[in-house]
Amino acid sequence: MNLNLPETLKWEDHKLHLLDQRVLPHQQTYLTIETMQDAWQAINTLAVRGAPAIGVAAGFALTQAMFSNPDPSQQELERIAEYLKSARPTAVNLSWALDRVVKSWAESPSTETLEREALAIYHEDLAICQNIGKHGADLIQPNQGVLTHCNAGSLAVSRLGTATAPMYEQHNRGIPFRVYADETRPLYQGARLTAWELDQAGIDVTLICDNMAATTMASGKIDLALVGTDRVTRNGDVINKIGTLNVAILCKHYGIPFYVACPSSTYDRQTASGQQVPIEQRDKQEVLGNHAAAVKVLNPAFDITPASLVTGIITEQGITSAEDIDVFLAP
Ligand code: MRU
Repeated sequence: MNLNLPETLKWEDHKLHLLDQRVLPHQQTYLTIETMQDAWQAINTLAVRGAPAIGVAAGFALTQAMFSNPDPSQQELERIAEYLKSARPTAVNLSWALDRVVKSWAESPSTETLEREALAIYHEDLAICQNIGKHGADLIQPNQGVLTHCNAGSLAVSRLGTATAPMYEQHNRGIPFRVYADETRPLYQGARLTAWELDQAGIDVTLICDNMAATTMASGKIDLALVGTDRVTRNGDVINKIGTLNVAILCKHYGIPFYVACPSSTYDRQTASGQQVPIEQRDKQEVLGNHAAAVKVLNPAFDITPASLVTGIITEQGITSAEDIDVFLAP
């Protein structure tokens, strides 16, 4: 697919470079990771963000730390992996990718092995997004309106995105459709990232405030909601950016299909339901900004959409109902 998409991260000469998403879209600068503390900080402050992208970035960061370690060992590898996992608690892809890199060392202990594994995760992620795009594309019919929340786009993965992959696929096939991007308070991933990346790719995108979703649906402009996720639990609950639950409830009310797109690595078989997932609580200043009265603040970064509100989950292996995901993705 020949699309104008941003390059989320680069791995050059054993060094990780991240497109700094905190300053997009006004500045397009790459942040060079020098130490594992830099990597932790970049993940924690959302210089790199989105479940698959933080997994890919952490895999490279761990590899980089071991390349610059004069005495790389299994113990050191595990210590750094645990440290990087602590940067963000909710997306399961972070620990999934780090565990994969750690495991590769146990099979063949060399820094080259780690690099091969980190690169494999990166390249697999791209192939996965392509397949999500193919499986989900026909959900978007000609001239329909699609609502999305946060950024599950190219910036959140190696390339193409999860929720955006069916959009890019249909766009590439010449199918006309419209996207409505929720701005996604408090960090504006929808306004700063999704709206920008879809527009760059030539997709018809309209930005709305989060509190405009209901009226936009009521006016008949939305035929489908398509979002990403940070974790899907065994019972099919979907944990995604705060505000996703609002969208799912509205979709139920207006009879609009609500689909979630993710790689199978986002499925967490070990966790029974959304209630057991650690929800990241972030700094109150993100909500207060410069406008609010200095009062108490709630700032959970994610919410839990129950499986019953999810029409379907699009993975690289096909589309399943949320309730059937465990059988569908059987190991
Ligand atoms: O806090 P963020 O920006 O990392 O949150 C990202 C999301 O909620 C995405 O929807 C999710 O990670 C899926 S990305 C393909």
